[in-house]
Amino acid sequence: MGYISVAIDGPSGAGKSTVARAAAARLGYVYVDTGAMYRAIGLAVCRKGISGDDTAGIVAVLPEVQLDIRYEDGAQHILLCGEDVSDAIRTPEIAKYASKVSAVPEVRQFLLETQRDMAKNSNILMDGRDIGTVILPDAPVKIFLTASAEARAQRRYLELHEKGQSITFDEVLHDIQQRDEQDMTRAVAPLKQAADAVLLDTSDISLEQSIEAVLRIIRERVEDKP
Ligand code: DC
Repeated sequence: MGYISVAIDGPSGAGKSTVARAAAARLGYVYVDTGAMYRAIGLAVCRKGISGDDTAGIVAVLPEVQLDIRYEDGAQHILLCGEDVSDAIRTPEIAKYASKVSAVPEVRQFLLETQRDMAKNSNILMDGRDIGTVILPDAPVKIFLTASAEARAQRRYLELHEKGQSITFDEVLHDIQQRDEQDMTRAVAPLKQAADAVLLDTSDISLEQSIEAVLRIIRERVEDKP
């Protein structure tokens, strides 16, 4: 029997990666965070001093980008030309670069085979924006995990506040709406729900309930089948 792929797509801030990581751990599946790959390319572009709007400059950097994914205790680490950049990619600045580079067709093409190959070697739960629509259109389980912009902004605002960052709720909401707009309106592989994806709206449910819901959807589709 082949390996099982679960595609989880949705906008930023819906709790996708936390939910996906936890669900993968409970199922014993490999969790693949594709956003980290776009972020690593964004970091490479940023470090070269290239603008996120300079498409030709971004494309020119690609031949120098060598990405490796490793797993340590189930946690995904991403290496850019041998350097572990798993922490360096988690900044608001790199999130903006990631959003820009992800709109470039050559960047998406560059990552496509890597992402597809990862699904050939193990049971995986892959999270991103176009996994169910473009990368793994035949995945037996597709989930579109979302929440209202306000609910996502509220969670993000509390997170940032706990870290001591001074930012207003309106600024956070504005950032989220802007990223949604960019991710949903780009020409190549825009964020959208696959026709055969199950919609899971987490606006009014807890993290634990979201994880349970994802596990239930997966079990209904694959685990319970003989
Ligand atoms: O999920 P994230 O915030 O780490 O993603 C970073 C950026 O990469 C985000 O702007 C959307 C983009 N992305 C994408 O276009 N396709 C994916 N499969 C994953 C992320």
